[in-house]
Amino acid sequence: MAIISNCTASIIKDAAFALKQGHLVAFPTETVYGLGADATNEKAVARIYEVKGRPKDHPLIVHISSIELLDKWATEIPDYAIKLARNFWPGPMTLILPRTGLARDFITGGQDNVGIRVPANNFALALLKTFESEGGYGIAAPSANKFGALSPTNAQAVQDELENDLLPSDLILDGGCCEVGIESTIIDCTSDKPEILRPGAVTLNMVENIFNIKRSEESYMSAHMRNSRKVLAPGMLISHYAPKARVYLGQTPIIGQGMIAIDHIKTPLGVVRLAAPKNDLEFAKTLYEALRSGDRQGLKEICVIPPNKGTLKEAIFDRLNKSASSL
Ligand code: TXA
Ligand code: MG
Repeated sequence: MAIISNCTASIIKDAAFALKQGHLVAFPTETVYGLGADATNEKAVARIYEVKGRPKDHPLIVHISSIELLDKWATEIPDYAIKLARNFWPGPMTLILPRTGLARDFITGGQDNVGIRVPANNFALALLKTFESEGGYGIAAPSANKFGALSPTNAQAVQDELENDLLPSDLILDGGCCEVGIESTIIDCTSDKPEILRPGAVTLNMVENIFNIKRSEESYMSAHMRNSRKVLAPGMLISHYAPKARVYLGQTPIIGQGMIAIDHIKTPLGVVRLAAPKNDLEFAKTLYEALRSGDRQGLKEICVIPPNKGTLKEAIFDRLNKSASSL
């Protein structure tokens, strides 16, 4: 497996060909790096699960290059889902929809619905378009990390996570650092109203705005605030997105601990400052790499003070809450 830094059109073509041959290709998206396989190739998809050490019933997101390809994978698409797609694709949003026959059990974990996303990253879109022009239908790609670990936001982090498990014929495309830094918003579109299953950079507020509704309307509430859900999104497992170090939320760090907080919060003496982002956007973008650097430095404990304002506040808190959980 090699990291390929200079992603020219001919490299992208080779990568699309590798996918068609059943190899794995890790690639950048605007959220995090994905570990891609041909979404119609059962053997290739099985390797994703092996490499990640991921349970088989955890469904994968299928990436496509445009909304035009949506009905290959999804059926009974409600109007509101089309509206979401038109407003937020390409972008950090995954829609869960009833599946067509193309979305087999090995993609959906046996569920009758499928997760679809059009990423907003030029390398990802070029790879998808080339792959589709060679007869492919979509690229299945979970985050390119070991199950339960932090998602990688640069190519080196993919290599550090997966180098022992990828084969020489697999590829890692280096497209620099991911712009958003945390995973896509997942929206369940299998009932009469959209429900946010995982918060991300497409926020509840943004969703409400396109439908001209108010925050108080219960039906649009984030599902993670509710008790019951029909659709399973295993990324909602309590312990997830976790570094090796223990993560403490909102505590003032003490000597020897790592610290991540907005830049105006001072670093106490003897504390290792891992990141000092200026705002919530920069916080999301640098968070996972900062936690990884804590692990590289051998820190046992990292205190993170999440931002208390900004559009990404909720998504950052959601991930950190899972990082901090010891379950
Ligand atoms: O930003 C992202 O979404 C990244 C990039 C690579 O696109 N991908 C990503 O994939 O985060 P993954 O597999 O690490 O997390 C996807 C989450 C999982 O928790 C999975 O359970 C949920 O999406 N999911 C996928 N398909 C689903 C489905 N059909 N029904 C319910 N949840 C689904
Ligand atoms: Mg993941």
